[in-house]
Amino acid sequence: MTTSPLVVCKNIHKSYGQGANRFEVLKGINLSIDKGELRFLMGPSGSGKTTLISIIAAILTPDQGECFIENVNLLKLPDDQRTHYRGQHIGFVFQIFHLVPMLTTEENIAIPLLIQKVSRKKALEKACELLTELNMQSKIGAYPKDLSGGEQQRIAIARALVHNPKFIVCDEPTSFLDQTTGSIVMELLQKLVKQKNVSCVVVTHDARIESFADKIDRINDGQIING
Ligand SMILES: Nc1ncnc2c1ncn2[C@@H]1O[C@H](COP(=O)(O)OP(=O)(O)O)[C@@H](O)[C@H]1O
Ligand SMILES: [Mg+2]
Repeated sequence: MTTSPLVVCKNIHKSYGQGANRFEVLKGINLSIDKGELRFLMGPSGSGKTTLISIIAAILTPDQGECFIENVNLLKLPDDQRTHYRGQHIGFVFQIFHLVPMLTTEENIAIPLLIQKVSRKKALEKACELLTELNMQSKIGAYPKDLSGGEQQRIAIARALVHNPKFIVCDEPTSFLDQTTGSIVMELLQKLVKQKNVSCVVVTHDARIESFADKIDRINDGQIING
């Protein structure tokens, strides 16, 4: 059985700076990620990992090359359609959790559904279901300031997944977490990626979680070395 890749990037180049200060961060990146695949992107700080996932999610424009998600080149879409596609089909998890401080845990998780105009009642129900699945039902009604870093990241993971996206991007999701919490977060991600056939890219330099990857791409000097 052949699986068709969900994400395909061809010959991505990206430079920052001008004139003598110009430097090329990405020097011809080719990448394809299958449905249901948990791909890691590893490399030293400053190697261009965040730049690359920002290009894949069409937040940043490459100087050269193209990226497709389900054969759609998001950068060729008008702004409103691109924003709509991102909101509907991509989930994001960041190193710093980016929860909204004045919303409760379940309201934070429900945000992607509310953006899609799901009713508040249904969205909060789904959010509470996910909280229960995460073994965090005791945190229903709590605010981010009442949670540990690990708990906040699990809320952020739930928020990235609540709307059943096709593709999840996680930028250093475990770097602020202890090993046990990091493993719990990764186990959850792995389980959901397989269950829902979602493609997931995890950018990390956390060697403790390498065993969760289906495949690891390492960025070195602007290029990918498959490992
Ligand atoms: N907006 C920007 N302007 C100029 N340089 C940038 C910008 N964003 C990132 N860089 C530089 O590009 C390089 C790669 O950055 P980044 O993609 O954030 O790497 P990583 O995520 O692997 O740490 C770094 O040297 C960083 O300082
Ligand atoms: Mg980064």
